[in-house]
Amino acid sequence: MPKLAILTSGGDAPGMNMAVWAACNALEPRGWSCVGVREGFAGLLVGNFVGLNAASILPYTRLGGTFLGTSRDPGFRAKLPEALRALQAADINHLMVLGGNGSLQGARTLAQAGLCVVGLPATIDNDVAASEESIGFDTALNLGLLLLDQFRDTAESLPRLCALETLGGSTGFLARAVGQAGGADALLLPEEPLPLERLLEITQTAVARHRFALIVASEGYPGLEATLEALSERVGLRLRFARPSHTLRGGRPSARDRLLARVLAEAGVEHLANHRSGALLIQQGQPVLVPFEQLEPYKTPFGQV
Ligand code: F6P
Repeated sequence: MPKLAILTSGGDAPGMNMAVWAACNALEPRGWSCVGVREGFAGLLVGNFVGLNAASILPYTRLGGTFLGTSRDPGFRAKLPEALRALQAADINHLMVLGGNGSLQGARTLAQAGLCVVGLPATIDNDVAASEESIGFDTALNLGLLLLDQFRDTAESLPRLCALETLGGSTGFLARAVGQAGGADALLLPEEPLPLERLLEITQTAVARHRFALIVASEGYPGLEATLEALSERVGLRLRFARPSHTLRGGRPSARDRLLARVLAEAGVEHLANHRSGALLIQQGQPVLVPFEQLEPYKTPFGQV
């Protein structure tokens, strides 16, 4: 009986649980068995597998994070023989990997070693190369937007220089979407650093218009805190800096993320059943299997959100 191992890797993303369930749910009627890999690539190296069945994991689909656990292991390539031994011992030759760019490169390494592997984009950063969307992004976007709306409530009442920082690593896809959806006055994105004088101009225009300024910044913006402090002094408004940090990564997955997870996982199962490997990306709204060899390591700033 064919056996699939499912692995979640890197930063957890709301909707990962839904993808795991959807894959099992689609495979069971085909007579396949499913195992989960605990704690990502680190668990794969030591054969930390757990049997899965769709009925018992359905309750996790409404939860954020990943019930399988995850890890970050940049040195996976060098440890490939250990992973292959563990997979062989458990009689597994099909894999589904969920994660960001680094995780998809890990998936590629396994596919090059002869396994049948599909990689699904799952990261709140939405920075997976050539994919319009990734599992988890929509939930983080909605949460960021809620925080920005609430920031605006108080800024409108008692004017301040209000800055909300989002996660996003070295990219600004999440910050940009939160800021654009919430009508921020300025965006501070690592890909497009603003000269202080330009930022000052934008902020002064906002303050002249509505007495406060609302800024959304990505955590990777160079010298973020110093920039905001300098700006606050020049504008003459007290700075209020909100850093929700990892709270932005959790939470109940949105309907959109659950549907995306399901669409990707079901398409992934279809490709695995037909012995096709690759990264399953969203292009023009559809899941498209891209050969790992064609996968770029980073997303071009700014692709379509
Ligand atoms: O998974 C992506 C991400 O959440 C980034 O937005 C963030 O910079 C990073 O992970 C944080 O990593 P860690 O959880 O290892 O601190």
